[in-house]
Amino acid sequence: MKRIVLLASGSGSNAQKIIEYFQDHDSIEVALVLSNKKTAGVLDRCDRLGVPAMYFNPSSFSGSNRLLECLLGIEPDLIVLAGFLKLIPSSWIEAFPKKIINIHPALLPKYGGKGMYGMNVHRKVKEEKETSSGISIHYADARYDEGALIKQVSCTLNSDDEPEDIARKVLALEHEHYPQVIESLLAD
Ligand code: GAR
Repeated sequence: MKRIVLLASGSGSNAQKIIEYFQDHDSIEVALVLSNKKTAGVLDRCDRLGVPAMYFNPSSFSGSNRLLECLLGIEPDLIVLAGFLKLIPSSWIEAFPKKIINIHPALLPKYGGKGMYGMNVHRKVKEEKETSSGISIHYADARYDEGALIKQVSCTLNSDDEPEDIARKVLALEHEHYPQVIESLLAD
C-alpha cells in the first residue's frame, strides 16, 4: 500500500473527503492525520472515521527534528497539507522532495502568501471584484504558496457573491479535485 500522511489545522472537511475517497482503495491508504491544533475539528472527524490522528506540539515541528524523524519512520509516499496553516520547515522539503503537496483556495500566484488563508482569501477576492476564483494544488516549498503548480481549477463568480458564497464554491472544487490529484500523483 502507498501511504498518505495528512496535516490539517482546522475543520478538516478536505481531510474527510480524502479519507473517504481512499477508504476502500486497492493501493492507497491514509496512514495518519496530524494536527498542530488540539481543538481542530479534523481530530474529531478522524475519530468518527476510525483513522489514526494525533495532535503534535508545534515545537516538535519547527523547533526540532522530532516530528520529522517520526515521519521518516512512517515512510509516507505523499504528505498532504489540507488546510494546514504552518510553514513547512526546509528540512522537511529536503527530506521529502516532491512529496509534500498543498491546496490553496485561490488561483495562485494571486491571493497567496503569509496571512492568506481561509476567509481572508475570499474577502480579498471579493474586495478586488474578481469575476473568477478557484483552487491551486501545488508542491509545498519553504515559502508560503510558492511551490510548483500541479493543477488549478477555476469557478465563475457573480457580482453579488459574498465571501461566504465564494468560499462555498471554492470548497466544492477542493473536495472534488484534491482526492483525484492525490490518486494520480501516487499512480505515477
Ligand atoms: C481550505 O479551503 C484550504 O484550501 C485552506 O483552508 C481550508 C481548510 O478547510 N487552506 C489555506 O488557506 C492554506 N493557505 P477544511 O479544514 O475544511 O479542509
